[in-house]
Amino acid sequence: MDENSRNVVEYYTNTYGEDGRLTRRPQARLEWTRTLELLRATLPAAPARVLDVGGGPGAYARALAADGHRVRLVDLVPSHVALAAAGSPPIDAAVGDARDLPEPTDLYDATLLLGPLYHLLHAPDRRQALREAARVTRPGGVVIAAAISRFAGAIDFASTARLTEVDVEMARALLVDGVNDPRSPFTPAYFHRAEELAAECESAGLTNVVIHGVEGPAWPAAEAAVHGPLAAPIFTAALELARLYSTEAALVGASAHLLAVARS
Ligand SMILES: C[S@@+](CC[C@H](N)C(=O)[O-])C[C@H]1O[C@@H](n2cnc3c(N)ncnc32)[C@H](O)[C@@H]1O
Repeated sequence: MDENSRNVVEYYTNTYGEDGRLTRRPQARLEWTRTLELLRATLPAAPARVLDVGGGPGAYARALAADGHRVRLVDLVPSHVALAAAGSPPIDAAVGDARDLPEPTDLYDATLLLGPLYHLLHAPDRRQALREAARVTRPGGVVIAAAISRFAGAIDFASTARLTEVDVEMARALLVDGVNDPRSPFTPAYFHRAEELAAECESAGLTNVVIHGVEGPAWPAAEAAVHGPLAAPIFTAALELARLYSTEAALVGASAHLLAVARS
């Protein structure tokens, strides 16, 4: 296992509890709601064979299994795989690396890559993960890959009154190379511009690539309002804008996450 993968395993095993993340904050609740909507709008009719690569503790896998899909999950972190396998319903899950999937060619109708791309710091590794997703997906099947927007961290800190001078300095450096500063509390990661995510998908042989902004442009307003009396209506409005502007090129980078929907 390379040093970056060891960092990822260490981060999710000892530093950050991924289980329950998707319900914690307005941003994450928007991410969950919109991602699930986009998956349901894109996946073939159930029962489709779905591979969830980097599926973590299995939140999306469980929702899709409940929809009637046949879901298998692969993740780098053993404790995530154990949580996915132990949940209700239990998910068929295995430890594995997105760059070298322990799966047969052309088996799946759809492959999800909702996490590994931002944990892979180098473009050749990200292309390899996308190629692997394409390989295990039948021709004409769907590949859906998430990235974190280049601008998400600074927007998050600004909207939650946490933006320091150091954060601005780190955000300025991020504009140039996309890799976060070691002083950041997140594990080393890569943050995409939308056009770059599309280009990486295409360079891996994927076609019909469409980039969605997941949380929409008003997610920072939902974060800023979370403890106030307008939290609920602002969250609802942010969700509406996320739907309205989902593929609006001028706005997708304002979302915290980008979602590439493509064909194998
Ligand atoms: C932020 S979590 C996302 C989990 C889930 N897919 C979701 O969207 O809520 C990122 C996940 O990617 C996994 N991951 C990171 N690098 C990976 C790799 N090279 N191969 C497989 N999984 C990886 C991590 O272990 C973690 O479970």
